[in-house]
Amino acid sequence: MHIEQNISLKPYNTFGIDVKAKHFVSVSNISDLKEILNLSNYPNKLILGGGSNMLLTKDFDGLVIHLNIKGIDIFSEDDNYVLVKANAGENWHEFVLWCINNDFGGVENMSLIPGNVGTAPIQNIGAYGVELKDTFVSCEAMSVENRTLKTFTKEACNFGYRNSIFKQTEKGKFIITSVTFKLTKQNHTLHTNYGAITSQLEKMGIKTPTIQDVSKAVIAIRESKLPNPKDIGNSGSFFKNPVISVQLYNQLKDNFEDIPCYPISDIEVKVPAGWLIEKAGFKGKRFGDYGVHKNQALVLVNYNNAKGENILKLSQLIQKTVLRLFNISIEAEVNIL
Ligand code: EPU
Repeated sequence: MHIEQNISLKPYNTFGIDVKAKHFVSVSNISDLKEILNLSNYPNKLILGGGSNMLLTKDFDGLVIHLNIKGIDIFSEDDNYVLVKANAGENWHEFVLWCINNDFGGVENMSLIPGNVGTAPIQNIGAYGVELKDTFVSCEAMSVENRTLKTFTKEACNFGYRNSIFKQTEKGKFIITSVTFKLTKQNHTLHTNYGAITSQLEKMGIKTPTIQDVSKAVIAIRESKLPNPKDIGNSGSFFKNPVISVQLYNQLKDNFEDIPCYPISDIEVKVPAGWLIEKAGFKGKRFGDYGVHKNQALVLVNYNNAKGENILKLSQLIQKTVLRLFNISIEAEVNIL
């Protein structure tokens, strides 16, 4: 293991923000992770996985630990199911493709989500009607405090919409090192009801889709709507979709007839933040090197060399405007550092 000094974090965050880490180390196995965490001369540490869910607004005056533990293994299997354990440093989409190539079903709707396997449980990633929790069995995580490995079952993780205990009570206390998934080997349950998937499969002329087809459809939809971080820096959805009362929703409907919603309960609905931001006039707005994506208003983008703090200020302006226009607070989904 080699600790480097003054390293640019631009290649390590999908927003492509050029801030520096005072110290930087890449870790490729559990014992190295333990050793690094044991070092007492670096009190200030930041764990980086795929860097796909964070906005870096300033240089980091400590040690950045880049989690690069690789490997995917079949843990156990029978005729119908397989338990697959993937290490934290595996790229999420490459893991999905590995599952699809092996004809293991369950994660295909989450094709092309940026980030790594190890960070996926933290915010319970999800797309097109499927969330990580639907195939999640357990994860292993190292305690930052005492450097021991602990297994968290699905129940223990307390998953919610873009939420888990790793964002709540256990925030910053554990480093997820591997995740175990239960996937189907046959009779896959396909989730093709999400409007855009149905029409994409029709466009592709597919009547009885396989998991490969669903993945291809998701990839086509995402590529048409969401910018590829390799071309334009971004962090996927910048905000969460807010949950509001049915009462407020009905009031808003008087002024905004076309406001969409997803039912949550008798008293609450979820409203797409992308719609609110578009109505507020921000969709496609560009301010020099940064702005709001032209095809999906929920995504803030770095066109070239934007500063994290400018993107943060834009996000705050969007929040203020949405609050003023609709009386709705929208919360950032990405972590701001
Ligand atoms: N909409 C607009 N304008 C926009 C964007 C969206 O009016 O610019 C409205 C439309 O009514 C559209 C609806 O919002 O029908 C939903 O849009 P979309 O299907 O793109 O989904 P989303 O709610 O905006 C969520 C996730 C995405 C995920 C998609 C598909 C969150 C915060 N985002 O977005 O996740 O890919 O659903 O399942 O829940 C991510 O987390 O990084 C991410 C991309």
